[in-house]
Amino acid sequence: MYDMLLRQCRLLERDGTISEVDIGIESGLISEIAPQLLRPAKITLDLQQRLVSPAFVESHIHLDSALTAGQPRWNQSGTLFEGIEIWGDRKQSLSLEDVKTRAIETLKQQALQGTLWVRSHADVSEASLTTLQALLEVREAVKDWITLQVVAFPQDGIYSNSTNEALLEKAIDMGADVVGGIPHYELTREDGVRSLHKIFDLAIQHDRLIDIHCDEIDDDQSRFLEVVVAQTIKTGLGDRVTASHTTAFGSYNNAYAVKLLGFLRRTQINFIANPLINITLQGRTDTYPKRRGVTRVKELWQQDVNVSFGHDCVQDPWYTLGTGSMLDVAHMGLHVCQMTGIDEMNACYDMITWNGAKTLNIADQYGVEIGKTANLIVLDASDRYDALRRRPVVNYVISRGKLLCRTEPPRSMWNGTI
Ligand code: FE2
Repeated sequence: MYDMLLRQCRLLERDGTISEVDIGIESGLISEIAPQLLRPAKITLDLQQRLVSPAFVESHIHLDSALTAGQPRWNQSGTLFEGIEIWGDRKQSLSLEDVKTRAIETLKQQALQGTLWVRSHADVSEASLTTLQALLEVREAVKDWITLQVVAFPQDGIYSNSTNEALLEKAIDMGADVVGGIPHYELTREDGVRSLHKIFDLAIQHDRLIDIHCDEIDDDQSRFLEVVVAQTIKTGLGDRVTASHTTAFGSYNNAYAVKLLGFLRRTQINFIANPLINITLQGRTDTYPKRRGVTRVKELWQQDVNVSFGHDCVQDPWYTLGTGSMLDVAHMGLHVCQMTGIDEMNACYDMITWNGAKTLNIADQYGVEIGKTANLIVLDASDRYDALRRRPVVNYVISRGKLLCRTEPPRSMWNGTI
């Protein structure tokens, strides 16, 4: 007997094809997939041709600052730098419980909307390391229903004061999964380059992944991505390295950008774009024409570079909106990056699923396949395009083979005369 049987699924396969199948789940694993399964089940869900997809992957969020919009004041300029200032004030009043409560509430909102893997940055620029400790405790508390990776992120820079370097090292010793950085916010170009060398050294020494906030600025002279590329080539770290944001890449002249794309192809670096926030945060010093402030997602995708989309912030000093929906993220991404061809839209869906899994280094666990853990979602949609266009509710979320949450699709009634 199956623990759970999903009947009449439209299963989204890795290559984009859709199979009409039943899915049997036993002991948390997907045990059978076939056009018609006949064994009985403890729980049977009749999906009536709804879309079954692997759960969404949130590859870039800041859970420590989530749900703090307006505290202690609103970001009036809408800039990254005012956001950093406001967060500097808000983090004076952080407590373990404060961070944990907001982080778990945000994760619940994400899970309700189909996300079961999350990479969150934790600000390790304050001496108590409260945010890191809180997110490490949250990682443990939620592990039965969502997988959380924690990045030790030196928000104020590693060399902007005398204590941050040691705090980053301590954060890694405490158990952060990933080493972070912010080279464009170091005091000088030289400090930025030095910070990247330090990050790669720490990652090698402690066997950690790397995810750098890289060139999140409209300055076309912000060129730390080339240092990340060079270090990745020299160290051979390949797809263990991720460059987040890289918004300056959208401002580079084409001659430089094309050269850089060529170097990039020698690495397997992952890119993360955060279109919801960067379309609002960047371009603030422009008059007109006003830049979109997003990295070259389409060109990277065309070059077979792994790109995923992240939400980045949910109701915090940098981005006061957001619900945690990855469909919203991909929807904004395909607009901002002008990826409206059908293959391009489908690629945008992949950027919140398979590509995110590759970035998080969990691709071997990911997908709706026999023998894998049943982490899947049921969308009230027929295919990827339909899901992106309408952004329907996630009808069922199945985590570790169990029904984690259920949302009924709204039904409208037409009461007109025609
Ligand atoms: Fe970020």
